[in-house]
Amino acid sequence: MINVTKSYFPQREKLDKYIDQIYASGWMTNNGKLLEELEQRLKAFLGVEYLVLVSNGTLALQVAYHVLGIKNEVITTPFSFVATTNSLLWENLTPVFVDIEPHTFNIDPGLIESAISPNTTAILPVHVFGNACEVEKLDIISKKYSLKLIYDAAHAFDVSDGNSNVLRYGDASTLSFHATKIFHTIEGGAIILHNEEDYTKAKLLINFGISDYDKVDLLGINCKMNEFQAAMGLAVLDDFEQISIGRERVWEKYVDAFTKIPEVQLQVNNERFKNNYSYFPVVFQSEAKLLEIKQELNNQNINPRRYFYPSLNRLEYLQHANPCPVSESLAKRILCLPIFPDLDENAQDAIIKIIIDKLIK
Ligand SMILES: Cc1ncc(COP(=O)(O)O)c(C=O)c1O
Repeated sequence: MINVTKSYFPQREKLDKYIDQIYASGWMTNNGKLLEELEQRLKAFLGVEYLVLVSNGTLALQVAYHVLGIKNEVITTPFSFVATTNSLLWENLTPVFVDIEPHTFNIDPGLIESAISPNTTAILPVHVFGNACEVEKLDIISKKYSLKLIYDAAHAFDVSDGNSNVLRYGDASTLSFHATKIFHTIEGGAIILHNEEDYTKAKLLINFGISDYDKVDLLGINCKMNEFQAAMGLAVLDDFEQISIGRERVWEKYVDAFTKIPEVQLQVNNERFKNNYSYFPVVFQSEAKLLEIKQELNNQNINPRRYFYPSLNRLEYLQHANPCPVSESLAKRILCLPIFPDLDENAQDAIIKIIIDKLIK
């Protein structure tokens, strides 16, 4: 079976070198040496000053809301993984959905102002599939209305414009290091902050609010990353350049194949920021066509995924979500194709052929 993604396994010897250090130290979690090393190396790699490692990308979002004191309504995108909306609902925050741009698939900044109410406290955009949002426009709106700006950057590891990483924007950004992501720690995530005060608060919140022996300063939670997760992260980071080169090769081949097919719409990338080759979404003209193609791929043991379906404003447990026609239409017609560094070239040719044959018949 060829899945939409394949978790990257570093060579055992490489991983073992890090795991040996855990055995030598006798220290498995709570700010261990490997966690510190990973934090330092990621800060340097991503060009950010304040980074807090956590146990997953969903809790990274929830802790970010607490750090920044988010309340009531949060303006967000309906086109994302369900964790974006669920993290808000879990914190008793109300998502207010603003529709997306039809070509970038990111929140449409032009529609945000009319959705702001006296109860709005924050904007939560997503750099969907690693495609950077219009960060300058979002910056202006958030400042104009004194709203906090938190980016769900779960897909946006290693997205920069050459000088500046996209994680430097907003009041906070969060990453997911789930095993399916281009950089991973099996399960894991990070919160990127921009000042010492927020960083210190986040460090407290992820460890129950405990500041010292017998001293609890804040109502916190437990979402620490452990040493085994950090070991995996360090081993994957050692190989990251190769991972990225492998993904780029697959990504380029899809682009070459599909740009000349008018029946397939591709995501338009923010010109300023380079793509991280994390996903390869294709959009068909109808849901019926998508289902037909997906079935044929499944018949050949190929498992693309409907990322993201449904549009989040249509989640059954939401009561008063407003319609978002662009997102709803896209969610019905979009399929993410397999992309990982060692995707076999013949297999990729077969995927492309199945799709094109179905489109032109
Ligand atoms: C956009 C987005 N936000 C948040 C998350 C949650 O991350 P995690 O699975 O690490 O909790 C994901 C996970 O895939 C995601 O795609």
